[in-house]
Amino acid sequence: MKFQGSKNYVATQDLMLAVNASATLRKPLLVKGEPGTGKTMLAEEVADALGLPLLQWHIKSTTKAQQGLYEYDAVSRLRDSQLSSVEGGDKVRDIHNYIVKGVLWQAFTSEQPVALLIDEIDKADIEFPNDLLREIDRMEFYVYETRELIRARHRPLVFITSNNEKELPDAFLRRCFFHYIKFPDADTMKQIVDVHFPGLKKELLAAAMKTFYEVRNLPGLKKKPSTSELLDWLKLLVAEDIPLDALQSRDDKIAVPPLIGALLKNEQDVTLFEKLVFMQRHNR
Ligand SMILES: Nc1ncnc2c1ncn2[C@@H]1O[C@H](COP(=O)(O)OP(=O)(O)O)[C@@H](O)[C@H]1O
Ligand SMILES: [Mg+2]
Repeated sequence: MKFQGSKNYVATQDLMLAVNASATLRKPLLVKGEPGTGKTMLAEEVADALGLPLLQWHIKSTTKAQQGLYEYDAVSRLRDSQLSSVEGGDKVRDIHNYIVKGVLWQAFTSEQPVALLIDEIDKADIEFPNDLLREIDRMEFYVYETRELIRARHRPLVFITSNNEKELPDAFLRRCFFHYIKFPDADTMKQIVDVHFPGLKKELLAAAMKTFYEVRNLPGLKKKPSTSELLDWLKLLVAEDIPLDALQSRDDKIAVPPLIGALLKNEQDVTLFEKLVFMQRHNR
């Protein structure tokens, strides 16, 4: 079971090593990196390549660790007990009917081995990772309401992603194998674009990439555009049939490139970029 990248996903050598290392150590792979650098997609592609179903848990600021295990739906039980007829009473009496299984429970009890994605763990509050330590370590948890121990049949292949909005606790880090997806260099980026737009004209790609990296390297930018933004922009350039010379600045005309809203997502950054273009024009 070795991950070699896929036809939809460009994996660098060190990323493939990291995936396989975490599988060997049987520890979760903690993937960090800027938004849009392919962290979520990595889990999808690895699961697909290894033929494992992928269970996904997308974390929000309000997500609690317990929700990944199970929740006891006391409200429904109370309502059923008030509404139900005599026959319905059986359902109400059995507490199992009101235990809602979380993603970890499903992953642990699945018949076949699965992959599990805990996506954007840094969105949750600081207690969240600590609250999952035991479950991740021992691959088991206890259901107090029914006095059951849920233990993993097969250890799932676990991916945890973080956009680095918050630091993660040391005790949690110790249990993971860590990989940082560096922002792709130009060569890797070309391969990624090629996966999405196989027939793209070389000149258009070169001009678009030049502008893209110029924008990205602009000092003081609030939000740097990433891979997914470049792909969006290229898609628009192709769809709108934008001519090549709209992207190439000729001596007499340096202008803000078309559809820049795909790359820059706030007005300060757009203003900053316009200033740069204005200065370039004056330095001629
Ligand atoms: N290495 C890659 N190979 C192919 N496509 C990629 C790659 N990295 C990013 N992408 C593209 O960028 C998009 C965003 O990736 P995603 O996994 O959602 O990023 P993240 O989870 O890191 O924010 C993907 O849908 C995919 O189209
Ligand atoms: Mg993501």
